[in-house]
Amino acid sequence: MTKKILITGGAGFIGSHLADFLIESSNDEVTVLDCLDEQVHGKINNPPDYLNKNIKFILGSVNDQEEFEEVVKENEIIFHLAAKVGVGQSMYQIRDYVDNNILGMGNLLNILVNSEHDVKKIVIASSNTVYGEGKASCAKCGIVFPKLRILNQMKNKNWNIQCPKCEGRLKSLLTDENALCNPSSIYALSKRVQEEMGLMICKTYGIDITILRFFLVYGPRQALSNPYTGVFAIFCTRLLNGKPPIVFEDGLQSRDFVNVKDICQALMLAMKSPEANGEIFNVGTGIPLTIKKVAENFVEKINPKLKPIYNQQYRVGDIRHCVADISKIKNKLGYDPKISFDKGIEEYINWIKKKEYKFQDKTDEALAELKEKGLLK
Ligand SMILES: NC(=O)c1ccc[n+]([C@@H]2O[C@H](COP(=O)([O-])OP(=O)(O)OC[C@H]3O[C@@H](n4cnc5c(N)ncnc54)[C@H](O)[C@@H]3O)[C@@H](O)[C@H]2O)c1
Ligand SMILES: [Zn+2]
Repeated sequence: MTKKILITGGAGFIGSHLADFLIESSNDEVTVLDCLDEQVHGKINNPPDYLNKNIKFILGSVNDQEEFEEVVKENEIIFHLAAKVGVGQSMYQIRDYVDNNILGMGNLLNILVNSEHDVKKIVIASSNTVYGEGKASCAKCGIVFPKLRILNQMKNKNWNIQCPKCEGRLKSLLTDENALCNPSSIYALSKRVQEEMGLMICKTYGIDITILRFFLVYGPRQALSNPYTGVFAIFCTRLLNGKPPIVFEDGLQSRDFVNVKDICQALMLAMKSPEANGEIFNVGTGIPLTIKKVAENFVEKINPKLKPIYNQQYRVGDIRHCVADISKIKNKLGYDPKISFDKGIEEYINWIKKKEYKFQDKTDEALAELKEKGLLK
């Protein structure tokens, strides 16, 4: 039987890939609701060219309850991906992030509770940023959840995380879903609020919900014009403009980079598996990668004459390590990330090189803005 599926924010990077997955794997009717945010898409009134032609596109915002309600009522499954996604930017465009991310979620739940509809299931895109620093272990104190590094420590260029109990050295571990949540930006907090609001209301009213905490997603179609997201896009845009990538701290901070196709695999599993209902899952690879390694890889592949700049500056609120423990989603849903980093970045760079428009590097502007707000030191 065909299903009616809505993707909010479906004209964006992850949502557009999900639309392709859904269209290619079934006869389901897919609708995309997207406001075509100028920061992501530039000035356009029509959906981007890459968006699958077999979907129904509706230009609109999840902030507009009436507009949103009309669309929700028509659908049975909702992937809620619409959001503002700049972590640093969220620390000064506070109202905008609350509006789009928290009010948008509030509208969705309000509609589900108060109107007649056929929605059976919602899947929410959350983020690794809800954790803050990842899980770690101290030789003396055992498992700990480090706090954000304090400014004095960072001023002294001591980038390592410390044990919150004895201030000793820590070994970073993979972070599982039971780890302490310690959001360190309005963006991260907005994602945490989305999770809690969704779980509370769906439990109360018997609506199926799954929360996916994506780690750092990369792949073709990631907005290059948006200087606030995606270290891949930022490094590539600079290299293609003949400038070296700028790496904060010493480059040894580690992250979990997951290809957008693997994210789609997880989204599809979340939709189909009854075992996913009421649950939160990490979606990553479980493989730590330092930012230094990422920068060097891109330099080598795009412009080997340049060298990354390790600027020994830091962004207030940045974490040192966070890498996913993906045992839960592997064991419960059978998730199995398939795209290796090497394969993934090859495809990414090919896409970047094929893109026809001139790459606008807005990193310097974005850094100046962060500096002006006191968020870059
Ligand atoms: N890319 C990542 O690394 C990552 C990591 C963790 C979580 N996420 C989450 O995944 C989701 C999708 O992210 P993405 O990387 O595809 O970002 P994106 O910016 O490419 O896509 C977001 C889309 O939402 C649209 N949008 C924004 N506000 C809207 C509103 N009020 N109403 C309707 N549409 C709106 C934008 O126009 C855009 O097309 C987001 O919820 C994000 O928080 C992404
Ligand atoms: Zn300790």
